[in-house]
Amino acid sequence: MKLPPRLEYILSLTESSRHTVDVGSDHGKLAVALALSGKAERVTASDVNAGPLSKAEALIEKLCVGDKVATRLADGLNGFECEGVDQVIIAGMGGELIRDIIAAAPWVKADGVLLILQPMTTAPELRRYLFEEGFRIEREGAVVEGRRPYEVITARYDGVVRECAPEDAEIGGFLDKDDSAVRALLLKKRTALKKRLIGAEKENSGETLTLKRVIAEIDRRLEE
Ligand SMILES: C[S@@+](CC[C@H](N)C(=O)[O-])C[C@H]1O[C@@H](n2cnc3c(N)ncnc32)[C@H](O)[C@@H]1O
Repeated sequence: MKLPPRLEYILSLTESSRHTVDVGSDHGKLAVALALSGKAERVTASDVNAGPLSKAEALIEKLCVGDKVATRLADGLNGFECEGVDQVIIAGMGGELIRDIIAAAPWVKADGVLLILQPMTTAPELRRYLFEEGFRIEREGAVVEGRRPYEVITARYDGVVRECAPEDAEIGGFLDKDDSAVRALLLKKRTALKKRLIGAEKENSGETLTLKRVIAEIDRRLEE
């Protein structure tokens, strides 16, 4: 099964797993591809809406992976404690929704679950939460699909609360300017931050200095 680049990239970040949950699985493509890859013994494609789940069910049936992939109607990670989950994928949703889903499932901390997160928006809020709640960001990567760069974060709880500077929240650990997807992501972030800076300067807001600092850090990373 051919995956679009964003999902293919997320799949490449998955690890060997006994039970992976793909939260907000929608079409179920990633859950099915993960099962077919052999990296996960068991995958649950979950979604809060019945419509998407029926698409996932049709794909599971078509590709004959019903012995490995189950579907579940669930809000976030509700009901998954005691299920031996060691990997959670939450992709294609806003960063704040992803944050709220993790926050409502404190067992992911105790069980050392690997989180693979792909926020469509508000990634800074998600990163702030991960830093402040003792999750260690293990990898950050970018992928371009169409013309849009997407960011993907992997994290696991280690109990160390970290200070999250504005640069950490806004641009994370993206350093490799020779990676064309990272470059595209940093340029996109720079454009958005510049717009915010214009607004902040008009309103004489206290955010101005911080925004300038983050933009300068992006420039440094792009030039170095
Ligand atoms: C844009 S789709 C992303 C699909 C897929 N994960 C991807 O990245 O291509 C978002 C999916 O998340 C589901 N969703 C939204 N809120 C959710 C929640 N609280 N719990 C589970 N699923 C949710 C929606 O029903 C929808 O199917």
